[in-house]
Amino acid sequence: MIKIAPSILSADFANLERDIRRIAEADYVHVDVMDGVFVPNISIGIPVLQSIRKVTDMFLDVHLMIVEPIRYVERFCDAGADLVTVHLEADTPENIHAAIDKIHAKGKKAGIVLKPATPAEATLPYLEKVDLILVMTVEPGFGGQKFMAEQMPKVAALRRLINEKNPACELEVDGGVAPDTCRTCIEAGANVLVAGSAVYKAADIPARIRELRG
Ligand code: DX5
Ligand code: ZN
Repeated sequence: MIKIAPSILSADFANLERDIRRIAEADYVHVDVMDGVFVPNISIGIPVLQSIRKVTDMFLDVHLMIVEPIRYVERFCDAGADLVTVHLEADTPENIHAAIDKIHAKGKKAGIVLKPATPAEATLPYLEKVDLILVMTVEPGFGGQKFMAEQMPKVAALRRLINEKNPACELEVDGGVAPDTCRTCIEAGANVLVAGSAVYKAADIPARIRELRG
């Protein structure tokens, strides 16, 4: 079963509760946290996540696009995240391991994220301990960018590694996922699809979410 994780980066932040209710059909709420350093954009952080937690029981998938995420992962867990993902490019391997351990110690799911230039093999040191691997299909930082189909061999390679070493691990893609690109992601082996503009720009959001399931 394919899961859909609408990104609230494309929601109206002045009407966030309304826009979260609009995606009740979906599986996860994807929350993009940007610090203006790891990526050239600033979005939302801990207080907004706390407010979201108060108005929904949906699963909160928190994508940290911040440098040295180990500094903040526990606070995002306490603020209500169900899953926290950290970028492999954002810290040393030692600190990535420690960040994963801190998230697990809080009783939450932990994931790792790969920018487009980061190869599948970079996940190997963590593969057996993470709950999710997220492959970026755009350069992180902004919604509404063009889908990078050239990331699909990496998704397929990760699906093979996951099936062999940690079959419970989920495989998520993020960036440019829309009705015309969702199938290639599913065929490559992704089971969680993030979609921002494709969901929030749709006239009929529940129908669009069903369409994205492939
Ligand atoms: C980009 C974010 C994405 C973004 C996706 O850095 O991580 O989650 O919101 O937006 P779309 O689906 O519009 O490409
Ligand atoms: Zn994201």
